[in-house]
Amino acid sequence: MPETLHIITGATGLLGASMILELARDTSDRLLCLARPGRCEPGVRVRQALEQAAHAYDLPQVQIEEAMRRTTALAHDVLDEDGPDLPQPVGHPDSVRVWHLAAHTNLSERARRRCFAANVGGTRRLLALARRWGAQSFSYMSTAQPD
Ligand SMILES: NC(=O)c1ccc[n+]([C@@H]2O[C@H](COP(=O)([O-])OP(=O)(O)OC[C@H]3O[C@@H](n4cnc5c(N)ncnc54)[C@H](OP(=O)(O)O)[C@@H]3O)[C@@H](O)[C@H]2O)c1
Repeated sequence: MPETLHIITGATGLLGASMILELARDTSDRLLCLARPGRCEPGVRVRQALEQAAHAYDLPQVQIEEAMRRTTALAHDVLDEDGPDLPQPVGHPDSVRVWHLAAHTNLSERARRRCFAANVGGTRRLLALARRWGAQSFSYMSTAQPD
């Protein structure tokens, strides 16, 4: 059976964690979750985010366990010039789908420079990475608000 790999940025965010739980429920695919380096390991950060999302949406623990069973978590900051190669055991999937959900969500005037660096520069870098990974699709949830 063809193997699909979903690569999710912003895996610790509100949308990222919800997307991971949905992909675990609706597919049997492998998940590569990218999380910004934090106080603990990326896998721990992703699990914490899944627990929060599952609690918010009243989802069963088994959905978290299923998601984590299929998840490889890697540290990645979209501000970094380079990104990770696809690690084993997810090195040679038949198709790769990228869900780019990482974003700087403080849209205040003071945060403008950081917001632009993460959301514009970061998305450009992710697009380049997606090409390197041979991705078949790139789904991006944009950050915008009316003036
Ligand atoms: N939530 C909504 O209802 C909604 C609606 C429309 C559009 N959107 C858009 O969808 C996107 C995601 O929203 P969200 O609600 O999930 O936001 P969120 O909960 O604030 O999550 C943002 C995610 O991006 C990560 N991130 C921030 N800066 C990063 C960096 N430099 N490198 C790597 N990761 C970084 C955060 O990681 P950390 O955990 O390390 O901070 C977190 O995982 C945003 O563009 C938002 O504007 C959201």
